[in-house]
Amino acid sequence: MTETRLDAYLKSRLALADKALAQLFRPKSGEPKTIRDAMRYSIFAGGKRLRPILLMAAAEACGTKAEKVLKAAAAMEMIHTYSLIHDDLPAMDDDDLRRGKPTNHKVFGEAMAILAGDGLLTYAFEAAADNARALGLDARSTAELIRALAQGAGTQGMVGGQVADLEAEEWKGKNHGFNPARVLEQIHLRKTAALIAASLEAGAILAGASAARRRALREYGEAMGLAFQIADDVLDVVGDKKKLGKNGSDAQNQKLTYAALYGLDKARAKARALVALAHRKISPFGPKGQILGDLADYVIARDR
Ligand code: IPE
Ligand code: IPE
Ligand code: MG
Ligand code: MG
Ligand code: MG
Repeated sequence: MTETRLDAYLKSRLALADKALAQLFRPKSGEPKTIRDAMRYSIFAGGKRLRPILLMAAAEACGTKAEKVLKAAAAMEMIHTYSLIHDDLPAMDDDDLRRGKPTNHKVFGEAMAILAGDGLLTYAFEAAADNARALGLDARSTAELIRALAQGAGTQGMVGGQVADLEAEEWKGKNHGFNPARVLEQIHLRKTAALIAASLEAGAILAGASAARRRALREYGEAMGLAFQIADDVLDVVGDKKKLGKNGSDAQNQKLTYAALYGLDKARAKARALVALAHRKISPFGPKGQILGDLADYVIARDR
């Protein structure tokens, strides 16, 4: 029963996210065709749209319709897609397959892939600002919205996590002098949970939610976002590459992951505990938090 409710929700909100992205990525004057093609290639390669869906779900839990927050939702997908394009570059994870297609740099070359990422990151802030303007959001909330996106994406968030992820490669062989469990949690909280938490916070800000609700949604996002990346680590080992649309390179890159440090069973148990924590964080929402609860369950039950 829960599954049908969630399936219907995922399907309808994914369609809304895709429609918003299709609108935003129409040809624009003064924009070179090459960069537009490169950005569109990765945006429309078929992601799950989890971050835009979470932004919508947060706004809806706070009483604002999903249709009112679509450009900001699309902005989260742009930042995420940029992070994937750069994550796959030869200098980073060096992957050839993403979302079931050759990675961006394999098709457009490394220089264009870097610029496509840059283009997506900057366009995200334009789209989020447009959303705030269209909603008539007050100046302070607009500033907080933009700040939440920047923090989630920046050196304290996704970029910082990616740096720590690279620095922890080959952790087994080297004497880093660090506590791998602590470092690993920090890597995952930053590289993945930060942008997920920012998506939820952005939905709350756009809906004019109270500080308490905003904090609850952010903490829910941190817990489920960490669980999401643990599931990603597990899928890198056991997942069906066809379904995932990526080949998995953690072992080859000697990444510090939950699967590598704890083994699959303990990693899965940790993810389950985080999902339970996520449920507790949204308990103040009552029935309005049902879909958020379903989404938390989904991040560890998924096979892609
Ligand atoms: C993959 O994210 C990268 C991580 C942060 C784990 P997703 O699993 O959400 O990838 P898409 O968007 O569905 O392709
Ligand atoms: C990436 O983590 C997180 C990002 C910020 C992109 P991974 O390197 O594990 O993501 P995948 O497995 O390539 O999607
Ligand atoms: Mg990576
Ligand atoms: Mg990767
Ligand atoms: Mg991975």
